[in-house]
Amino acid sequence: MEQKFVLNIIDKKQIPETEPERQYYFMDIAKEYVKQLSEAKGNPLTFHVSTFGCQMNARDSEKLVGILEKVGYVEEDSEKADFVIYNTCTVRENANNKVYGRLGYLNGFKKKNPFMMIGMCGCMMQEPTVVEKIKQSYRFVNLIFGTHNIYKFAELITTAMENSFGPQHKKGMSMTIDIWKDTDKIVEDLPVERKYSFKSGVNIMFGCNNFCSYCIVPYVRGRERSREPKEIIREIERLVADGVVEVMLLGQNVNSYGKNLETPMSFAELLQEIEKIEGLERIRFMTSHPKDLSDQLIEVMKHSKKICKHLHLPLQSGSSRILKEMNRRYDKEHYLELVEKIRAAVPDIALTTDIIVGFPGETEEDFEETLDVVRKVRYDSAFTFIYSKRTGTPAAAMEEQVPEEVVKNRFDRLLKEVQTISAEKASALTGQTLPVLIEEQNGQDEHLVTGRLSNNSTVHLPGSADLIGKIVDVTLTECKGFYYIGELS
Ligand code: 5AD
Ligand code: SF4
Repeated sequence: MEQKFVLNIIDKKQIPETEPERQYYFMDIAKEYVKQLSEAKGNPLTFHVSTFGCQMNARDSEKLVGILEKVGYVEEDSEKADFVIYNTCTVRENANNKVYGRLGYLNGFKKKNPFMMIGMCGCMMQEPTVVEKIKQSYRFVNLIFGTHNIYKFAELITTAMENSFGPQHKKGMSMTIDIWKDTDKIVEDLPVERKYSFKSGVNIMFGCNNFCSYCIVPYVRGRERSREPKEIIREIERLVADGVVEVMLLGQNVNSYGKNLETPMSFAELLQEIEKIEGLERIRFMTSHPKDLSDQLIEVMKHSKKICKHLHLPLQSGSSRILKEMNRRYDKEHYLELVEKIRAAVPDIALTTDIIVGFPGETEEDFEETLDVVRKVRYDSAFTFIYSKRTGTPAAAMEEQVPEEVVKNRFDRLLKEVQTISAEKASALTGQTLPVLIEEQNGQDEHLVTGRLSNNSTVHLPGSADLIGKIVDVTLTECKGFYYIGELS
């Protein structure tokens, strides 16, 4: 597109040096650019954010949406939007491949829409080889940024718009790239647009220091840093005032929360503070590393009225030998003892987990140990993954990568075991009357709503949209495998 508008409204002397003020300044600038482009187009500019990966990325996407709406973009439910952003994941190789496939398809839309921009962010962008590949083969991408500078999104949009549509735009030279290796900065008080009005993720910490030998996360999300408890509490209080009844506290390893604070505070202590917030009904958290799960936390969970009866406790492997190779810093016995302690304290807790099959050197005996833990713990559900070699991690350099067909066979056996146990456990609550947070109307039948029990199980029941966001007592009349059918009691 030829230059559509002249960009001379940034007054360098006016740019605030401190955050978040600086970003609010750029939001005003971006708003003006969006207005000019919308006028040129004859319609409001639209955006679409596609999120890959974990809850952390989902929360980051809400921050992107908050800023996009603030600067005047209108959300659209399709990748034909004027600004499409891929918030990527790189935890397994197939996640990367999916993104490349879809980028080619996006270019088809871009060729037909002179107002279109494509942005790429998230974990995949922290890998230099990925950025190199996009620079070489996907030159139509307008903006690339990483996990550490997402708070600068308003500023980045402004630069990307100038480079794409401003006077300095030259054909084929419009890519804006800003990737940081790491940061110790946490910027508070930027706009966020929640997906749900009644529940919200809340970051309590960023990054990870564990360096499990298969995992790329510490390389792409940087070192562990915790938010100040007062900031977390303030955010939750505001959310509650805005109608939120359930929060999901997010961190790569929530059990090591608070270690790097000026006044250190444990995760259990933080939970106790959050519990006091009036109007907040439910607290969830994710993810817990077994090595750091303290007795203090179990005690707090036992006495809490708000912490949900669900714990996600990644096992990764049941073999102590493989756990050592994985650098997990617990063994099979410790894990099983932990599960026993938790169940003794909170008998009706639902336990879920992550398991990797085919870690380098995993023998049939090692795999049998994993099956043994699965049978002993009897998880309510488990996410099972085939080991994916991530360049740069210690495990990628390990010899004895397990042959594909062996891994596939083990994976199928594990999945069968996990599913059989989940199905056996699923109906445990049939007949009981329990509180359910109603989350949405059923897609197929408007007279049905869907909600969640404290233990995270799904319940479908007759009801209308005005129940959404409310916690109601529901009698669970029937179990249909992975969900319950219920009725208001
Ligand atoms: N290969 C397969 N699964 C992995 N995970 C993390 N890294 C890898 C990898 N290289 C899984 C772990 C983690 C979950 C989020 O993803 O089980 O808990
Ligand atoms: Fe990855 Fe381990 Fe950190 Fe989880 S705890 S993000 S698996 S390095």
